[in-house]
Amino acid sequence: MVAVPQHSPSPRILDDLELQAMGVLPPPGLADLDVPRDLAGAAAVELVDPEGLPLARVHLAGDGAGRIESLARPAHGPFRRLRLSPGEVRDRHPGAVVVPVETPLTAAQLADVRGAEGAVVLLVLAGAGWPAALSPLALVRSTVAAVRDAPDVHVVVVPLARTGDPTRDAERRRRVLAAYGEGAAVAELPGGDTTGTSVAEPSGVVVFFTGLSGSGKSTLARALVDEVLETTDRTVTSLDGDVVRRTLSAGLSFSPADRETNIRRIGWVAAEIARHGGVAVCSPIAPYDATRREVRRMVEEAGGRFVLVHVATPVEECERRDRKGLYAKARAGEIGDFTGISAPYEVPADADVVVDTTGLTVEAALGPVLDAVGLTGTPAAAEERAEPAELAEPAEAPLRVLVVCTANICRSPYLQLALQAAAGRGVEVTSAGTHGFVDKAMDAEMAAEATARGLDPTDFRSRPLTRDLVAGADLVLTAEARHRTFVLEEHPAAFKKVFTVGQFARGVAALPEGTSPREAVARLAASRPSADGADVADPYRRGPAAAAACADHIDALVAHVAPHLRKDRLSG
Ligand code: ADX
Repeated sequence: MVAVPQHSPSPRILDDLELQAMGVLPPPGLADLDVPRDLAGAAAVELVDPEGLPLARVHLAGDGAGRIESLARPAHGPFRRLRLSPGEVRDRHPGAVVVPVETPLTAAQLADVRGAEGAVVLLVLAGAGWPAALSPLALVRSTVAAVRDAPDVHVVVVPLARTGDPTRDAERRRRVLAAYGEGAAVAELPGGDTTGTSVAEPSGVVVFFTGLSGSGKSTLARALVDEVLETTDRTVTSLDGDVVRRTLSAGLSFSPADRETNIRRIGWVAAEIARHGGVAVCSPIAPYDATRREVRRMVEEAGGRFVLVHVATPVEECERRDRKGLYAKARAGEIGDFTGISAPYEVPADADVVVDTTGLTVEAALGPVLDAVGLTGTPAAAEERAEPAELAEPAEAPLRVLVVCTANICRSPYLQLALQAAAGRGVEVTSAGTHGFVDKAMDAEMAAEATARGLDPTDFRSRPLTRDLVAGADLVLTAEARHRTFVLEEHPAAFKKVFTVGQFARGVAALPEGTSPREAVARLAASRPSADGADVADPYRRGPAAAAACADHIDALVAHVAPHLRKDRLSG
């Protein structure tokens, strides 16, 4: 018997093992377990966790099937306590209706579940191999959160990996439901658009350039990194071949084994980056097909998207360029095992993009790569692209801020005056009311507060909110969340520029120094800080103390917001 330490534990193997050990899935064929080729002759292999704790023994039969013996249940992992066997579910929740969950519950589905009579077990089928949109962990988290306050709805997690083969996956799902549904009712949720409660996660992307030395990998990789930084708000890490060899892989040679180690390291790091929703751009030679495929697998198992770009510039052209003088040395025999000269390069058959950089500008060569990578920009970037007129607007144009409350006589006029005073000429602040009075002066008590604080309310006149006022604003700040809702009900398309003032103040506090006002609006539109508990209370007819408290509250918010809207940042 041979122990197979899971040095880089493959979640899919552990997931399947767990279900097989519970008797939920049938015993594996060898392919399911990816038994290393040199162990194929062993009678049994033991699977151990990263610390060496034996988890299971697989008895290998000659025909490629295996019998599995459970030695221990994995002891670690988030939500492990929710991983119950079918028997445990029956014991703990007798008579419960079993409902499989594969996507975040929509509001309608949630209402169904909560309205059910008797106990409900939500069987979250969450394992490796999911499409990248939502990680298994995020699915469990969102389901747990959705039913936290429902006493008779219980979440059970089944680590069911997806193989990617629809027929096989359907069969595995059927088996799981049969095992958990034995002696219980199984109910499928009515389908629905899953946008309701979905937790959007950026999915990780790994762009992997492969090709000969001098083919243009690094140049394209650098240009891609710049493009990602300029047009999206994604984080990006470059793993360039030459740089990695000075750092992560320092000391490795160019022997086949060391090249493989080098690429595996790059793949491991890239997969981790993808797991966290980042973008990794790799540019090593990576001459071996099998190693590249292994990297693809690692990335996809981490929930990332893998884009393989073969930079197929012919060796003659690479040698002609010979920017580092290495081809000359290789020809002269000073460097051995030189890829393309005295060492092999296996042309990928699974490249997502093939680009020969001969005679192309960087821009031209990058085009198809950008198309394949398809990293959509931030809403801000997308908007800028869709509306070049906005981009072209001169930096001197003032930022138009519209402030909204109910009647437009207390809070919004005060906020208008205070913000205008603090933000200066680069900003043009106006106000209106969702139920705005027509042409009224500011409320006397708020006007007194304004005067006492050096603002001048004399010329102010109230007005009702109109469609044109919203359309003409770059930023709409409302006193309360309900005003925001009101504006959005009337003008849903404006959702990227309408915030409660408290929400906006919260959001700008987290922005990096030097963010321009327009960028700030776009960033907050993308990140949507919470508006909970951030309303400015209505002081109307509540006496001078309420007016003073309201003015204090608004002053504090203005102190946060105004610095981010000032003109001197507009050129930033
Ligand atoms: S890989 O084969 O392991 O993927 P990697 O991209 O890290 O290669 O390193 C390639 C770089 O190392 C080349 O761009 C070149 O500058 C340098 N180099 C030095 N010796 C060799 C060699 N024998 N073969 C290829 N590249 C070499």
